[in-house]
Amino acid sequence: MTMCHLSILEPENGRCGLRAALLLSALGVTTVALTASAPASAGTGRDLRVDAGAHGTTARWLVDGLRAAAPAPGVPLRGPGAPLTVYAHRGASSAAPENTLLADEVARRSGVEWIENDVQPSKDGVPYVLHDETVNRTTSGTGRIRDLTAAQLDALDAGSWFAPAFAGARVPSLAAQLDDLHARGGSLLLEIKGPHSRDEVARVVKDIRDHDMAGRVLVQSFDADALRLTRELAPDLPLALLRSELDADPVAVAGELGLSAYHPSDSALASRPEIVTALHAAGVAVNVWTVDAATRWKALDAAGVDGIITNHPAELAGWLSARP
Ligand code: G3P
Ligand code: CA
Repeated sequence: MTMCHLSILEPENGRCGLRAALLLSALGVTTVALTASAPASAGTGRDLRVDAGAHGTTARWLVDGLRAAAPAPGVPLRGPGAPLTVYAHRGASSAAPENTLLADEVARRSGVEWIENDVQPSKDGVPYVLHDETVNRTTSGTGRIRDLTAAQLDALDAGSWFAPAFAGARVPSLAAQLDDLHARGGSLLLEIKGPHSRDEVARVVKDIRDHDMAGRVLVQSFDADALRLTRELAPDLPLALLRSELDADPVAVAGELGLSAYHPSDSALASRPEIVTALHAAGVAVNVWTVDAATRWKALDAAGVDGIITNHPAELAGWLSARP
């Protein structure tokens, strides 16, 4: 038997939405609390059907059959008048070799909090930060990352291809990456690149937990199954779905996957910008990739997106601070 207490906190900023606190006590098992936005506009003067339940230490509730979006720790939902969030794509990848600690440091020194990196496993199952399926383009080596051991990856030079001054930069393991963020600051938009097995996702989650970084990571993927596995293994980690083309109903997909954010490409969003309002009404943030032109920054800012993923984080941060 589950005891449930639901109380309305406040209408959401002008959206006729619903924000509520839910306390669930699964008798003798656990007590969990959740504050969440309703998954759709609640409106006024009508009855809502609310169903609530607890699974372990996770609370879930549905309003009129749609799952409420839990506010994800560390996922910035842009408030009225607030600036959008800058995400440094593969670190400050226009200024330093992508997906290295040096690119992360350049982003950090530009005052940018959020760093995007890609993660994939080595042959021996260690998560490493690399974008491509092979190490050919961005390192001194050759071959598929999944065919190379951790020791082989550690021996590669990931900086010389970009410029001689970066010689000696390494392909970071996810553990090294998290260590660096933990020690030096910053939050991580972590892309699980390509299909991953349950064990591979479990190792990513373990690394995040071992470094006490769960509150500073947003997991994203093009692969919906990778997100489902992450949710199963770590329901407290916020999730974002990457899309090159929009789903017919992004709000429904967000509800089904339990997303905190939806990440369309710039061109996909341009085809239906009204999804921003719909996703916001469902409590889901919208962050757009990969946008490097100031004309598009301006348009997306005006469209109310929550964040922009860019190869030029310093320039976007500067543009944001200079705009009226
Ligand atoms: O963060 C969005 C972006 O990283 C997705 O594309 O290919 O650069 O990983 P890609
Ligand atoms: Ca990526």
